Amino acid sequence: MKAIVLAGGSGTRLRPLTHTIAKQLAPVANKPVLHYAIEQITSAGIKDIGVVISPETGSQIKQSLGSGEKWGAQITYILQSQPAGLAHAVKTGMPFLGNSPFLMFLGDNLIKEGVSHLINQFLGQKPQALILLKEVEDPRAFGVATVDKGMRVKKLVEKPSNPDSNLALTGIYIFDPLIHRAIDRIKPSPRGELEITDAIQELINMGKKVIARPMSGWWLDTGKKEDLLEANRLILDESTTLSNCGITDPASQVSGSVQIGTGTTIFSSIIRGPSVIGEDCCIQDSFIGPYTSIGRHTTIRETAVENSIIMENCLISCVRRLEDSIIGAGANIRQKKKKTDSTTLFLGNNSEVVI
Ligand code: DAU
Repeated sequence: MKAIVLAGGSGTRLRPLTHTIAKQLAPVANKPVLHYAIEQITSAGIKDIGVVISPETGSQIKQSLGSGEKWGAQITYILQSQPAGLAHAVKTGMPFLGNSPFLMFLGDNLIKEGVSHLINQFLGQKPQALILLKEVEDPRAFGVATVDKGMRVKKLVEKPSNPDSNLALTGIYIFDPLIHRAIDRIKPSPRGELEITDAIQELINMGKKVIARPMSGWWLDTGKKEDLLEANRLILDESTTLSNCGITDPASQVSGSVQIGTGTTIFSSIIRGPSVIGEDCCIQDSFIGPYTSIGRHTTIRETAVENSIIMENCLISCVRRLEDSIIGAGANIRQKKKKTDSTTLFLGNNSEVVI
């Protein structure tokens, strides 16, 4: 089986961050979202991976994933000239996919459980499509499925205003090659995209076997700021173990599960986990609170940070309290007068803010 990972698209809902970086490269616990997908795919035994990229951010994605060697995989890059939809991305990947069944993983999705169970179910039950569903409170922003008692899919609608169920399509699917014929039969949706949801509905219309698997663990589509912060909390909660490779002076306190990278110095500060601080950072006279990820080469002075993602090469100084924030790489934030109680920011790369 092959895998296709979708890392194109435009990322409009994550602006201003996505003015300069691909949304799939936004860091969660100091690791790009996309890397989690590649890890799960390769640990399920799939090593032949096609990654769909856009002309705008393709080179960043290539630089981040490389040849795939790091994961023992071989990555083939597939350039999609415009974000014309998920089914269009599959169509563009046809020369790579050939006649192979394939796992499709949306590069901005994060799931707790890996994909091995899904692959085993597909190989055992041999459907034409297997989709992963998650019950959500408000499914209107997603594809929505109606299933029978045996989890056979009866109907699929993309982003319905009046959903028939609360079962959302997550961004993980497995297809046999018949999906290509279904894609050839569909037309662009009202938003002008060739929807994979419509192609799967077409398989159902053709009388083919489409089955669903309910998901037990968490699932996040990291398309918005709040989702990214939630993903950061979930991953930090689950995967952070205590490891301090930096230098902490006696006037500092580190508690809870905290990871501190090599070359990082902590002076007169309190670091409370779960949190992660990258390599070569300097934290001075500050409080780094729970659920904070700090990228490498970042300096924080006389500042309290909580529940935030601070990317690499930032300089943050004298901000009384920074919370629920995402700060792009290379940002420079200074507070002149210590008046504001707390500050929440969502900044793209290289921003400069004086409060
Ligand atoms: O996250 C799950 C949802 O993903 C599903 O419930 C929906 O049924 C499905 O259509 C999709 O909806 P989104 O509107 O969230 O998709 P988005 O445009 O965010 O694209 C998902 C990923 O695919 C993202 O990493 C960008 C990439 N992409 C997107 C398009 C439209 C491409 O590579 N090429 C494209 O043409």
